[in-house]
Amino acid sequence: MDAAGTPIAAPTPKGEAFALAAKLAGIDAHFSPRVVAEMNDIQFKLVKVQGDFTWHRHEHTDEAFVVLQGTLHIAYRDRADIVLHAGDMAVVPRGVEHCPRADAECHVLLVEPRGVVNTGDVGGALTAANDVWI
Ligand code: NI
Repeated sequence: MDAAGTPIAAPTPKGEAFALAAKLAGIDAHFSPRVVAEMNDIQFKLVKVQGDFTWHRHEHTDEAFVVLQGTLHIAYRDRADIVLHAGDMAVVPRGVEHCPRADAECHVLLVEPRGVVNTGDVGGALTAANDVWI
């Protein structure tokens, strides 16, 4: 549903414009990425983050975070943690263990190859299904 209560048609065909805010309005769960677009083998996913995620790494790919709203903390084991505010982005290098966290709900656009599992090598209760479009 968008802000006006209108169901969102999914997926939006290539070539057409869409509002990220309208897609976000249809997401009611935390840590449940939803695909909004693909470009070749890359997917753009919206996710609402609140609370602590789980430590994990992606052995085969970098992972880009673009913060749209709120503040996202990304903790690392091997380097200083980072804090991303709305409008900030970061690319977590492949193989680097990381743990996202948001004290208040935060809206993030993830950019990564199709097939990447959100919990990486760890799995567990926070593992989300892939290829769920909105
Ligand atoms: Ni990750």
